[in-house]
Amino acid sequence: MANLFELQKKIAAVREQIETESKDLTDSKMVYEMRKVFLDKTGKVGQLMRYMKDVDPSQRAEFGKTVNELKNWALDYFGSLDEKMRKAELQRVYKSEQIDITMPAHTHVQGNLHPVTQVRNQLIDVFSGMGFEIYEGTEVENDYYNFTALNTPKDHPARDMQDTFYLSPEFVLRTQTSSAQIHVMENEKPPIKILSPGKVFRSDDDATHSPMFSQMEGLVVDKGITLGDLQGMLDVFVKKVFGQETRTRLRPSYFPFTEPSVEVDVSCFECGGTGCSFCKHTGWIEVLGAGIVNRKVLENCGIDPDVYSGLAFGIGIERVAMLKYGINNIKQLFESDLRVLNQINDR
Ligand code: PHE
Repeated sequence: MANLFELQKKIAAVREQIETESKDLTDSKMVYEMRKVFLDKTGKVGQLMRYMKDVDPSQRAEFGKTVNELKNWALDYFGSLDEKMRKAELQRVYKSEQIDITMPAHTHVQGNLHPVTQVRNQLIDVFSGMGFEIYEGTEVENDYYNFTALNTPKDHPARDMQDTFYLSPEFVLRTQTSSAQIHVMENEKPPIKILSPGKVFRSDDDATHSPMFSQMEGLVVDKGITLGDLQGMLDVFVKKVFGQETRTRLRPSYFPFTEPSVEVDVSCFECGGTGCSFCKHTGWIEVLGAGIVNRKVLENCGIDPDVYSGLAFGIGIERVAMLKYGINNIKQLFESDLRVLNQINDR
């Protein structure tokens, strides 16, 4: 017969073993494995019952109760150990997945088009929507195309309006994209509807003028073209580029190649037309020159001015960009300072 006291020492030893060995457990999987070793059907706790047959019958109840107590204790013990491990595991996951939202983000530097190119594209977009086709002229131009055919013969006082870079007595760096009008009218018969963007050159240099800048010429020749057509088209253009609430105003002006000639103003988009320092308190800002193509110019190109009439306009692209993006010195458009250029991204 086994001594109950001895057996109870065995029971206590199993409990101690559980307590000691469980100290090395680090996760719930290990807890699960160890729990199996002690609490499975053939586990170390259950095995203790094998001693039952050796116990004096009068003490069997006592023995069974002690083993059961150990079993219940072990169930609780592994239960709470498992819970503790799972909590710790969850914390470890949280910690590893933690995102520090105060860290600076990874950004990708993305280039954008130059403001002048952006405005140029916007203008092409608007006018090609109205059926204009692009014709690109040349930057080096014959005196005839730049001036004479445009009703500005030698010694015409209007040549003073544009300080010209002469390459030779015959050739100039074109001072205006209007020269493209002549090339187109010489080569095509009406109806004509072209847009001619490009660089132009004038010996002129201050905050709003640069020796090189860009223009966008527009030319429409057909039967019955009037100033009304011009105003209608320009209205669409300014609303698209400067905003829906923008209005236009035509002011009489003078260009040798248009008659009548107009200067086109838009209502000031800073103050809405009430007057502010931006529009020099007039409520209006000048954006382009335009007019009805002079009969003499049509004649020069072999187009009968009694049958056809035309309208023409010339937009300064840098000027539009400066107005639109609040740039007060044209040099900022040519200095390639990324701090300036990065701020302008209209596409
Ligand atoms: N060529 C003129 C200029 O450069 C603008 C213009 C174009 C005016 C077409 C009338 C018609 O100032």
